[in-house]
Amino acid sequence: MSPIRDPFDLTGRRALVTGASRGIGLAVAAALAQHGAAIAITGRKSDSLRAAAGQLQSTGADVRPFVCHQGEPEAVVRLFEQLDQTTFTPDIVVINAATNPVYGPLVDLDLDAWRKILDVNLTGALLTAQAAARRMLPRRSGSILFMASIAGIDPLPGLGAYSISKAGLLGLMRALAKELGPSGIRVNAIAPGLIETRFSAALFQDRAAYERIIGQTPLGRHGQPDDLGGAVVFLASDAAAYVTGQVLIVDGGGHMG
Ligand SMILES: NC(=O)c1ccc[n+]([C@@H]2O[C@H](COP(=O)([O-])OP(=O)(O)OC[C@H]3O[C@@H](n4cnc5c(N)ncnc54)[C@H](OP(=O)(O)O)[C@@H]3O)[C@@H](O)[C@H]2O)c1
Repeated sequence: MSPIRDPFDLTGRRALVTGASRGIGLAVAAALAQHGAAIAITGRKSDSLRAAAGQLQSTGADVRPFVCHQGEPEAVVRLFEQLDQTTFTPDIVVINAATNPVYGPLVDLDLDAWRKILDVNLTGALLTAQAAARRMLPRRSGSILFMASIAGIDPLPGLGAYSISKAGLLGLMRALAKELGPSGIRVNAIAPGLIETRFSAALFQDRAAYERIIGQTPLGRHGQPDDLGGAVVFLASDAAAYVTGQVLIVDGGGHMG
C-alpha cells in the first residue's frame, strides 16, 4: 500500500509572496515554508526584506528576497526575469502587497492618491498574476491567491479608494479563475478582517471604530498575521484541489455569506 500523502504538504513547491517583509505577507511566507515550500518574498525596501529573509531562514526556510515595487510595471517584469534566472518558477503566488496612502471621504480624494492605490493594489496585482500565469500555463498547474479585504465586500468608511481596489481584486480573481481553470490553474482570494499590523495601526488608534468592529465580531477579538497562515496553506495546497474562484473570509465571523 502506498503511503497516504498529506494534502497540505507543499514539499517541492515554490511560492512567491509579494509584500512579505512584515505583517500578513511575512506570516504567510512562514506558514508556506513550514509546510515545505521554498519561498521568494518581495517588498520595496531591501533592509527590511533582508531582515525578513534572515528571520525565515533561521527557522530553516528556503527563502530568497527580491526588491520589487508592485506599483511599477517594469519592476514586476524585472522580478520575474530574476526568478527565471534563478530557475525559481512559482507554483504558488500570493499577491499580498497593497497600499493605502489616504483616509477620508471619496468625494475629496485627489487623483494622484487614486492612481497610486490602483497602480499597486490592482494593476500591479494583474501584472503579477499575468506573469505568474504565463509560467504556470505550460505546466497546467498552479495556485494564485489574492490578498483582498473585507473592505472589498463591504466598503470601509474613509477607505473608499482602497475598498474599491479590493472589490476590483475580487473581480480580477473571478475572471482569472474562469479563464485559467480549464488549464489547471486555480485562483482564489482571502478577505481578512481587522488584523494587527503596521497597515491597520490607524484603526487601532481610533478606539470608537475599533470597538465597533470588535462588537460585530462573533469571535470577539481582532486577528493576528498568523491567523492567515492556515487559510493560505489550504488554498495553495492540494487540499483545495477542487476550489477555485472563491473568497475565504478570515475575520472572526464579522461577515457571513
Ligand atoms: N492589516 C489588516 O487589517 C488588513 C485587513 C485586510 C486586508 N489586508 C491586506 O493584507 C495585505 C498585507 O497587509 P499588512 O496589514 O500585512 O500590511 P503591512 O504590515 O504594512 O505589510 C505590507 C508589506 O507589503 C510591502 N509593500 C508595501 N507596499 C508595497 C509595494 N508597492 N510593492 C511591494 N511591496 C510593498 C511592505 O514592505 P515595504 O514597505 O518594504 O515595501 C510590507 O512587507 C494587504 O494587501 C492589505 O490590503 C490587511
